Order: sequence, then structure tokens, then C-alpha cells
Amino acid sequence: MNKILIVDDEVNIGILLSKFLTRNGYEVTTSTSGETALEYMTKENFNLVLCDFRLEDTDGREMLRKIKTTYPNTGVIIVTGYSDIKLAVELIKMGAYDYITKPLYPDEILNTINKAIEAQKIINITNYEPAKSREGRKLEVSGDEFIVGQSIASKELMKQIELVSPTNCSVILSGESGTGKESVAKGIHQKSNRKDKPFIAMDCGSLTKELAGSEFFGHEKGSFTGALFTKIGHFEMANGGTIFLDEVGNLSYDIQATLLRAVQERKIKRIGSTKELDLDVRIIVASNENLAEAIQKGKFREDLFHRFNEFNISLPPLRDRGKDILTFAHSFLHSANEELNRKVEGFSEEVLECFFNYNWPGNVRELKNVIRRATLFTEGNEIQIKALPLEISTFAKNTSTEYAAPTRGGIPVKKEVRRDLKNAAQEAEYDTILNVLKEVNYNKTKAAKILNIDRKTLYNKMKAINLD
Ligand SMILES: Nc1ncnc2c1ncn2[C@@H]1O[C@H](COP(=O)(O)OP(=O)(O)OP(=O)(O)O)[C@@H](O)[C@H]1O
Ligand SMILES: [Mg+2]
Repeated sequence: MNKILIVDDEVNIGILLSKFLTRNGYEVTTSTSGETALEYMTKENFNLVLCDFRLEDTDGREMLRKIKTTYPNTGVIIVTGYSDIKLAVELIKMGAYDYITKPLYPDEILNTINKAIEAQKIINITNYEPAKSREGRKLEVSGDEFIVGQSIASKELMKQIELVSPTNCSVILSGESGTGKESVAKGIHQKSNRKDKPFIAMDCGSLTKELAGSEFFGHEKGSFTGALFTKIGHFEMANGGTIFLDEVGNLSYDIQATLLRAVQERKIKRIGSTKELDLDVRIIVASNENLAEAIQKGKFREDLFHRFNEFNISLPPLRDRGKDILTFAHSFLHSANEELNRKVEGFSEEVLECFFNYNWPGNVRELKNVIRRATLFTEGNEIQIKALPLEISTFAKNTSTEYAAPTRGGIPVKKEVRRDLKNAAQEAEYDTILNVLKEVNYNKTKAAKILNIDRKTLYNKMKAINLD
């Protein structure tokens, strides 16, 4: 169940909201001060915090800053006493999902909360730290280190990033799932002179036709039924900075037309407003599918494609990055240790052999997940082959002792009988989820359908088992 923390110094508001949200399927905790709220957060994971801007001991801005630093995955909605666009923009740029103005209307609150919970994992709005250059070639991507690698493919990639970053060129990033398109987009932003301005990522794959316009451009209060508040669009939020349009191939033809107009004229209007705003946004787009093919099929506008295609970077699959796999593996082991409080030092030779022989359809993301999983299940100081998922461990040369001859669907079955039930269920669940995700190319909606659970449950499970 999704957990919500309500922070409001008016006890009655807390009680009312708590009743209302509980009735609507949420688990609610209330707090009347910022301090107690933060204390609750150390003890429990909340999906969302609904926080009043004016609190007796602190304010919404301070709360947001603290929450976003320590719990970046928790969504925050700020409740303000009056509609103050400047404040709202500031809060959203600081990472708030949305803001709601008083007086509160339950349906509006519920709607915003539902959307926030859905979007939490999808839209990722963060303020990024200016790039720190370590050893001159590493980038810091919002806490995650961007690993460069030594292979020819990686060096070529880095050269292109360095080349295009300081310009205002639009960029198309293409590459298989998990090759690091979003990471590269962030990297380009940080290496540009826009680095102190926002980087706004938007998942076009999850946009509905009805909402797309307002998500892109915002809307004025009252501009259509249900527009109870003024909403700032992603372009406006990103103004001065960079917007990253992920899965751009999924946009409907109509939206592509509106987008083309905005990009050509460099001006936008909120829906329901006559005021034009100058647009100064660098656009980076990513696509899993081949956009040229989509044009051929009439699914993507050629004129829009050419606007985006000022520069094109194709990300290499992990299997083509040679020894970089080692660099990635050690770096991910290091972060998994920190995150899971482990002290695993390295990998057995067999494990490394598998890493080099496996073909990594999920690329860097898959490697990261595999290492997290293995770190979680490793009690000694070296990751052994038994901590790897079956489809990878079969790539060890010397498998005769570990595996019996019988196979299940061509995959050798582990001979070793499990004696420890503690992790068994979790391991099985982990593998099932990961396999299905891979099967559907990491499309979570499809995966949830196949797994016969809803998307929220899938997200929660993925979070619980540390799957990215
Ligand atoms: N060069 C890199 N250094 C460190 N981590 C990386 C690098 N490239 C990718 N990753 C990690 O791999 C994961 C997937 O990367 P990212 O989300 O950027 O891929 P993507 O190409 O956008 O994937 P998808 O097509 O599925 O959206 C992330 O957790 C990211 O941090
Ligand atoms: Mg992506």
C-alpha cells in the first residue's frame, strides 16, 4: 500500500485529509511539525509527503530541501496558502512534484496525489549539482558517477559528448535499453553553460493524449474542466536549461505538430493563455526505436526529426565495450556496498568470465542490477557464481561440477540443493520480475500485466528488492 505523510500544523486538516485518503486506499501518517515529520521519515518509507508551506518550526522550502537530499525517491507536494507562481516554480525546480493551493478540494488533492505516485518513478525533476571534474574525465550525474571507460567505443562516446555539450545543438540519443541515454543527457547538460539551470526529464512514453499539451506547456486555471489550478509546463520549468524528452517516438502525431511549432518559433503559450513566453531551452531526445524507421512508417514527423537531429549520438551496447565491463562492475559493486551496507571486495574469476561472455541485452542497467542482487546475496568478501542469475552463470566455462546435465528450456539446472530458505522466496521473486522485465524490454506496464500485478505493486517490489 502507498504510504503518505501529511505535515500540517492545523490538526483538523490532518485529521480530515487522513480520513479521506485512508478511504481512498492510502496508508496515512500525520504530523503537525517539520521536526516530527522528519523523525517519522527515518523510521518508515513514505511514497509521498504532502507538506504545508507554512509550518510553525520550519517552512515547505526547507522541508523539501531536506527530504530531497535524504530521500530523493519520495515525492513531495507542497500546500501553499495562496497561489504564488514564483514560489511554485521555485519549489518545482527544487524537486517538488506539484503544489496545491488552499482552500483544499479533496478531489483535486486525490487526483494530484494519484498522479504523483504514478509519476514518481517516471518523471524525474531534479536540481543538478554543477559538474565536478574528477581526473578530468569523470562527470558527477546527480550523485551517480558517470563512468567513462577505456574502450574505443567509450572514448569515442566521450569525445562526442565533449564536442556537443558547449553548443546549443539539439541532440538525438539512440541506443538499446539501459545503455545510458538518460545519463548521457544529464552529462551533456552538466558540461554545458546551462548547468546551473534546470535539467527536466520527461517520459513521453507515459503521456496520455489528453494531458500531453498541458504537461509540455502548462495551463491557466479554468482553461478546461478540471483545470482548477494554474500549472506550469515542463518547457517553462526547463527554461534557460535543458529538457530531455525520453521515448520521443511515442508522441502522437498531433502533439508532434504542437511541439514543432514551439521549437520552430521558440515561443510557448500555456493552454488558455494568450501570453507568449520566449523559449530558451536546449532539447535532448532519446528513443529506443529507430526514428528514421518511424518516419518511413508515417509515425514520426520528418520535419520534427530534422529539428532534433542537429547532432546524433549512438550509445554502444555493453557487450561492445570490452574491458569497460570491469570498470562498470567495480564501480557498481562499490555503490552496492554502500547502499546495502556490505563489504564485498570483488568477483571470483568465474564470475568475471561470465560477465565477459554474456551478451547483456539490458546493458548497463542489467549489469548494475545483477551486481546489486549479487551483493545482496553475498555473505563472504567475493561474489561467487551462485549469486548470479542462472542465465548469466551458465556462461562459465567450467560448469560441469556446479551444474547437472538436465536442462530446462535449454538452460542448465543447478544441481546444488538449496538448504537456506531465508532468501529463497526473495531470490525467486527477483528473478521472475527481472526476467519478465527483460522480456518486455523493461516496459513496466507490460511487465506488470504479465506478472499479474498492478504497476504500483511492481514499482514497490522493484524498490524493495533494489531493482532499478
Ligand atoms: N556511463 C555510466 N556510468 C554510470 N552509470 C551508468 C552509465 N550508463 C548507464 N548507467 C546506469 O545504468 C542505468 C540505465 O541508464 P539510463 O537510464 O541512462 O539508460 P537508458 O538508455 O535511458 O535506458 P532506457 O532505454 O531503458 O530508458 C542507470 O541506473 C544509470 O545510472
Ligand atoms: Mg531512459
